[in-house]
Amino acid sequence: MWNFLVRNKQVAAMLAILVAAALVVIFMTTKGSSYSVVERVAAETEDVSNEAHIFSCNNLPSDDHFMPSIGNGHVATNIFSDTVYMNGLYNGRKGESRRARIPAWANVRLNSTLTHLPFKPVYSLDTKQGVFKVTVDRDRSVVTQRIYAHRYYTRAIINQIQIRPKPHADPNFIHKEIWIAIKLMPGPTSKDIDFQTPIPEIIDGRTVWRSCGKTRVSEDPVYQPLPVEVCAYWTSVPDHLVVPQHHSRVFTFIMTADKNQTVAREEFVRVLQEDGEDLYDKHLEAWQKLYSHASMQIEGNLQLAKIVNGIWYYFLSSLPSEESFSHQERYYGLSPTGLARGGTLDDYEGHNFWDTEMWMFPTILLLYPRYGKKLLEYRLDNAYVAAELAKITGNKGYRFPWESAYTGAEVTQPCCPEVAEFEQHVTGDVAFAARQYLAATRDEHWLQHGGCSIVTNIAEFWASRAVINYTTGFYDIENVMGPDEEHSNVTNSVFTNVVAGYSLYLAEYVACLCKSYYMAREPERWTDIAWSLALPYDTVLDYHPQYEGYTRGEPIKQADAVLLGFPLQYPMNVSTRANDLAYYESVTRENGPAMTDSMHTVGMLQLDDAVHAEQLFNKSYMHNVREPFKIWSELRSPNVGAVNFLTGMGGFLQSLVFGYAGISLNLDTLKITKPQLPPASTKFTIKGIKYLGASLTLDIGDPDTTLKVSGVDENWPLIMDNGKYNVTLVPGMTVTLKGQGPFVIRSVPWKDCQLPADTIGHNYLRPIGT
Ligand SMILES: *[C@@H]1O[C@H](CO)[C@@H](O)[C@H](O)[C@H]1NC(C)=O
Ligand SMILES: *[C@@H]1O[C@H](CO)[C@@H](O)[C@H](O)[C@H]1NC(C)=O
Ligand SMILES: *[C@@H]1O[C@H](CO)[C@@H](O)[C@H](O)[C@H]1NC(C)=O
Ligand SMILES: *[C@@H]1O[C@H](CO)[C@@H](O)[C@H](O)[C@H]1NC(C)=O
Ligand SMILES: *[C@@H]1O[C@H](CO)[C@@H](O)[C@H](O)[C@H]1NC(C)=O
Repeated sequence: MWNFLVRNKQVAAMLAILVAAALVVIFMTTKGSSYSVVERVAAETEDVSNEAHIFSCNNLPSDDHFMPSIGNGHVATNIFSDTVYMNGLYNGRKGESRRARIPAWANVRLNSTLTHLPFKPVYSLDTKQGVFKVTVDRDRSVVTQRIYAHRYYTRAIINQIQIRPKPHADPNFIHKEIWIAIKLMPGPTSKDIDFQTPIPEIIDGRTVWRSCGKTRVSEDPVYQPLPVEVCAYWTSVPDHLVVPQHHSRVFTFIMTADKNQTVAREEFVRVLQEDGEDLYDKHLEAWQKLYSHASMQIEGNLQLAKIVNGIWYYFLSSLPSEESFSHQERYYGLSPTGLARGGTLDDYEGHNFWDTEMWMFPTILLLYPRYGKKLLEYRLDNAYVAAELAKITGNKGYRFPWESAYTGAEVTQPCCPEVAEFEQHVTGDVAFAARQYLAATRDEHWLQHGGCSIVTNIAEFWASRAVINYTTGFYDIENVMGPDEEHSNVTNSVFTNVVAGYSLYLAEYVACLCKSYYMAREPERWTDIAWSLALPYDTVLDYHPQYEGYTRGEPIKQADAVLLGFPLQYPMNVSTRANDLAYYESVTRENGPAMTDSMHTVGMLQLDDAVHAEQLFNKSYMHNVREPFKIWSELRSPNVGAVNFLTGMGGFLQSLVFGYAGISLNLDTLKITKPQLPPASTKFTIKGIKYLGASLTLDIGDPDTTLKVSGVDENWPLIMDNGKYNVTLVPGMTVTLKGQGPFVIRSVPWKDCQLPADTIGHNYLRPIGT
């Protein structure tokens, strides 16, 4: 996401300093002979659970990078870390803006897991229940700690310690009380927030603490004149728990945080008053509800099933709750490493990038369109800042920044100004997500409340960026950078031009959809420009050079031109698609970010090369998934990069949904083509695909593949063409999909508006056919 070379230079400089420091240490202490600075290669611990939704181990990963997180879209933390992060809480000016650290007043530890006692704790993450558990089987008791970010009381992180005494073999044994030592480990004071000295208070007979503070540095003096306030409440944690003989008990420790002190307090008091088990049940119910709307299951391949469960768990942990006790806060986006990380440069500081729209959004949209809308809402909320950015850079309409956080202003790292300057495709990526959102939902309400405006203003931006070239007769877009960050300041990046062209076409379509309530300026001009946008294509080699003047053989960082075929679904000849895939596979750097192989997998499946697809598919995750908690690293082991890399997970899920399951979403149809099982699996189910208000379950098996219909919106009746005849899809029906399809599902047209032509690269001066 940043120019990796630049980042490597920084890392190299840091390493040099470390080496120098190490040498000084060696020099000063004579016994430092074996001291060396090498990359720490973490020994991975094994996941010992046979259940697809539970990841268990006896030893935590030695590198705490690979610890799992808990979250509910409002607060999140990495298990046993000293840090809690909150939605929309950042500190630092511009490129320095990063998630602001709240001390982990929720980090309660059992002493028996801190010191080397004879007990062997079992650690497990339950991805269906959204709970991390620690179980310690002691001489006289079994102690279970449950740590979770409550899915209904969303301001709260809960620690519950359940102590169950064991019966003694000798009935005459005289039981004493059971003592369990615990410790609160919040870490040092926050450098980001000036929390006041905690103030004690007695609530419901318990001593609790409160501390409020303000972030130290605002992100942008114009858009954020004031610091952000935050208040936390937490229960006092004793140094040990006592349980009388024969009695099981659950102790509950709570931390709440909110920008509003009243909200933090109210929710804290409410949680405190709940019975411990009821509190836990409410959390479990909320997670269950999430999975009852939609889920993905794989049978026959436990590892794959686990990875998929892990991905949805990590996605959902960073998305807001559906229902909550306190009002829903504005949502500040899904960043590449989620809500539990983002305090460091390496974790992309909790910023939002194109990753959201192009990598995480597509599968989230298909299963949870409500969350698709939430992700777009972040862009809508920041539209006025995008309008300013366009103005500042001499353009029109909306220009979304490469990185944004709290204010929506550009917050790209000081290291890498060129990504902010040139990676303008992010604005087209937002429009592409809007296009997919409309395709899946036909959400008129969304169009009326910002949708028409954002789509047409993005078109305005591209119209102002495209310059007619009278020599060639094409419109050029100069000074850009495609997803391949190793080539900056290029002209006519194919990826950029296609998302720009799509944005322009979409705007004309949307202008028609919105015409009764929204006045668009010049829709015809937009399509004229889109039609004549240059699209570099090598007629001899029948492939797409990545940009004008690209030298064949130049290595690239990551998938770029191949994204035309998927996710953009730009129509092209099969030979061109095959050439693009084969060529770019041969020049993509080995140590690029996850995602490239996922996109090549989709391509190979479309070309019917299942063997090559399988190799690429395996390669796309095997060295990025870190055991035992299925945390993703941006780079393949032994390299790390950003963790927990939701972007890579998003690409991987896309290869399953749009590759193996063969789903494609278009403005007028949902298609299923050649649905097939992922490697080494016996069944692949995608439950709750949402299309125009209907809920569909695709069940890919061997030999039968079925589509089950469990709800249809009466405004959008659905018909499926299975190649021979049309079937009307009605609730309760199960259709067997015979053959390869495509099985095309469509509804009645949406208003009397012509679908976008989506054809790019035709000569403006010499219209086609003359
Ligand atoms: C628990 O462990 C901590 C060290 O991690 C220690 O300071 C504390 O005294 C222990 N508590 C008890 C009750 O043993
Ligand atoms: C027009 O296109 C030609 C051919 O690609 C290029 O050499 C030239 O620089 C372009 N002209 C302008 C004004 O950008
Ligand atoms: C980008 O290229 C243009 C020429 O098209 C040049 O004027 C400009 O200085 C370049 N910018 C950077 C940052 O390299
Ligand atoms: C696609 O193939 C057809 C038929 O082989 C050919 O006429 C056409 O020029 C090709 N299109 C491109 C863009 O190469
Ligand atoms: C891919 O991984 C599966 C296990 O998930 C394995 O059975 C298969 O042999 C692997 N295929 C290749 C080509 O490595």
